[in-house]
Amino acid sequence: MERTLILLKPDCVQRRLVGRILSRFEDKGFNIAAMKLIQVTPEMAKVHYAEHVEKSFYPGLEAFITGGPVVALIIEGLEAIRVVREMLGATSGLKASPGTIRGDFSSSRQMNLVHASDGPEAAQREIGIYFKEEEIVPDTPTLTPWLRAADE
Ligand code: CMP
Repeated sequence: MERTLILLKPDCVQRRLVGRILSRFEDKGFNIAAMKLIQVTPEMAKVHYAEHVEKSFYPGLEAFITGGPVVALIIEGLEAIRVVREMLGATSGLKASPGTIRGDFSSSRQMNLVHASDGPEAAQREIGIYFKEEEIVPDTPTLTPWLRAADE
């Protein structure tokens, strides 16, 4: 089982797409281990996007990600990090394949609706930015035996 950090970005919230995009993850069979509506601060943005802070697009990215409420959640499931990234599609909505979230809903490189951790180290680091340990709710939904075999 893996956990990954997902942000439903301000464009997702403003466009009233939260329910539809959450449904994609629920439909796939992932568990929601934590979830909250937050306002990302410039300080949080700089920590989260540390690898991009020096890039030319960073000022616009910070203004965007702090520009409205964001839904932060932790998704849990088998190979969740890779599977969720594939569900999002390429960074730019113009390049993302049809059938992916960005391919279906976004036409932008910056306003690409959803962020998800790109590897195990990033997931651990990003979960720590947005959630305290006590905000994560351990749970095994009753449907789990109908979503995968016991030895998977
Ligand atoms: P995300 O997956 O959250 O990771 C970094 C974010 O920076 C990315 O989604 C986009 O929102 C944004 N981004 C990445 N590349 C560019 C770019 N070239 N121009 C503008 N925004 C970008």
